Amino acid sequence: MNYFTRRKGELYCEETAVAGIAAAVGTPFYLYSRKTLLRHFQAFDSGFAGIPHLTCFAVKACSNIAILHLFAKAGGGADIVSGGELFRALKAGIDPGRIIYSGVGKTEEELRAALAAGILLFNVESAQELDRLQRIALTLGLEAPVSFRVNPDVDPLTHAYISTGLAKNKFGIPIKEAMSLYRRAAAMEGIAVKGISCHIGSQLTRISPFVESIRKIRAFVGALAEKGVSVQYIDLGGGVGITYDDETPPQLPEYAAAVRRELVGLDCTLILEPGRVLVGNAGVLVTEVQYTKTNGAEEARKKFVIVDAAMNDLARPSLYGAFHEIQPVRETGAARETVDVVGPVCETGDFIARDRELAGVVQGDLLAVMSAGAYGFSMSSNYNSRPRAPEVLVDGSRYAVIRSRETLEQLIQGEAIPDCMEDGHDH
Ligand code: LLP
Repeated sequence: MNYFTRRKGELYCEETAVAGIAAAVGTPFYLYSRKTLLRHFQAFDSGFAGIPHLTCFAVKACSNIAILHLFAKAGGGADIVSGGELFRALKAGIDPGRIIYSGVGKTEEELRAALAAGILLFNVESAQELDRLQRIALTLGLEAPVSFRVNPDVDPLTHAYISTGLAKNKFGIPIKEAMSLYRRAAAMEGIAVKGISCHIGSQLTRISPFVESIRKIRAFVGALAEKGVSVQYIDLGGGVGITYDDETPPQLPEYAAAVRRELVGLDCTLILEPGRVLVGNAGVLVTEVQYTKTNGAEEARKKFVIVDAAMNDLARPSLYGAFHEIQPVRETGAARETVDVVGPVCETGDFIARDRELAGVVQGDLLAVMSAGAYGFSMSSNYNSRPRAPEVLVDGSRYAVIRSRETLEQLIQGEAIPDCMEDGHDH
């Protein structure tokens, strides 16, 4: 359920006409609906009402501080994976006591910053990371709160690039090896063992892999208790999928009920790390048609719609072959035709949609690439020296630019031509 609707053939975000925003901020731009973001947060979080829990938004899905702030005000925390995300989360006003830190490659500097900030939990993913964290904690005279991220070896039945809970993936500690690490950590000075975590993958459309991994975790928590190691927190990661095309992911109450059922009787605080399900369908990418053209041999003519958004703005179609619905911002009633919607980047892999049936468009028409709120702007880059698009947040009939369009000067910020490389200098 989202608040992108049509009125007399025009696309609206809440009470605001999308075309009006385009006229004011230019294209391409990301557009988010505040009401949708909050609705999704509440729908997710309320599923766990009545049990101790913390919903930590996966910052990587959509990292703008205005959006992090919105979730913080709604009671959420943050799941971070880098020092940059820690910086953002703190800037957004998220309580450090509601921040958890995941990821396989935390650097010395990143661990130190998070420890100094006083975050809730480090989801430690290797024995070496534990040792590094201990060294830093002892130097700072602090105690590091630790969860181990275990790898339950469960198939999430999703795209290979975003499957994380299989034994062959780089993530987590094999559940079979985790016991000895827990026992070692429990006796370590500077380390406080607090919890257990897992995250098996993203865009899951079935409940069964979640259930399978919870059962493995639960059995392991039981085995830990027998060895005298108790945990206060169980973190189940994120991963709930959304509808891009014709997927039928679990409804949020159904997901929450399954999780609750599997955890009955366990005296722990539940942590969840949703990303996509909170923001995916709360954002769109708005782009303008620059040109249309037809290429190819007579029997295989192909029509291209060239827009001003590209793979640098939205990487998902190029990277994962992901489907994003495309809607005209203004319906024209033109006949439908099959086209490739492509960007200006100099790669054949630069496309937003291929062989897509759309109502015919002409130069200057606006298109909305739907379900672009998750892993859209946050994965964007400057490839082809394209300034990154602005982000706009709508609230009813008002909107605010929450990130302005990058300027050309910002594009080369930090670059320098060193004197010693000018003509006449020897190396
Ligand atoms: N927790 C951890 C430790 C994660 O690695 C992730 C996502 C999440 C939570 C949030 O998962 P979600 O609820 O969003 O599924 N760029 C890809 C998705 C990468 C997901 C990476 N990890 C895409 O565009 O589909």
